[in-house]
Amino acid sequence: MPNPTVVGFSGNFTRPSKTRGFVDQVVRDIARQHGLSASTYDIEDLGPSLGSAKWARDLDGQARAIFDSVVNADVLVVGSPTYKGSYTGLFKHFFDLFDPASLRGKPVVLLATGGNDRHALIVEHQLRPLFGFFEALTLPTGIYATDKDFSDGVLRAEPILKRVEQVVGEVGLVLANRSAAGVVAG
Ligand SMILES: Cc1cc2nc3c(=O)[nH]c(=O)nc-3n(C[C@H](O)[C@H](O)[C@H](O)COP(=O)(O)O)c2cc1C
Repeated sequence: MPNPTVVGFSGNFTRPSKTRGFVDQVVRDIARQHGLSASTYDIEDLGPSLGSAKWARDLDGQARAIFDSVVNADVLVVGSPTYKGSYTGLFKHFFDLFDPASLRGKPVVLLATGGNDRHALIVEHQLRPLFGFFEALTLPTGIYATDKDFSDGVLRAEPILKRVEQVVGEVGLVLANRSAAGVVAG
C-alpha cells in the first residue's frame, strides 16, 4: 500500500514567498512526525493553463498532476497570502475547478500570511468557509503569520511555532483515528 501523503498548496504566485515557505514548513513537520510522504506546490507550479481553465479538464499535464495530488492527499495543508482582505484570486480559481465532493472528509490545515495583524481573521472568515463548502475536515487550529514573524523567509516567531506544533498534534489525532478505523494506512 502506498505511504499516506501530506500535500501543501499555497496561493502565492510570486517567489520567494513567505506563504509557500510557511506551508512547506508545516507539511514537513507533519510528514516527519507522522511518517507521511510530503510535497508542496504553489500557483507558480501550476503554470499558465490555470488562468484560462474553466474546468479541471482544461489544465495541462503539469497542472493536472498537481490537481490530482491535492485531490488524493491524505492530509492537505493550504495557505494563501492575504490580498485585499482575502485569499488570492488564483487560489480561489484553482479550487473552483474541484468537484464539490472531491475534498469531503479530508483533513485540511488552514494557514495564511499577511502584511499585518488586521486581517488575521482571513483564516476563520475566508478559508474555513471555503473548505466548509467542500465538507472537508478543517483542523481546529488555523494559523496566521505576518511579515514580522519571519526572518530570512523562515517562520521564527515562538507563538506561531507553538501553534504549528498544536496543529501537527491535531493531524496526529485524526490519522490515529483513521488508522484505527482502517481508513488510511498509519
Ligand atoms: C496585491 C496585494 C494585496 C495585499 N493585501 C493585503 C491585505 O489586504 N492585508 C494584509 O494584511 N496584507 C496584504 N498584503 C501583504 C501580503 O499579504 C503579505 O506581504 C504576504 O505575507 C505576502 O506573502 P508572500 O511572501 O507569500 O507573497 C497584500 C500584498 C499584495 C501584493
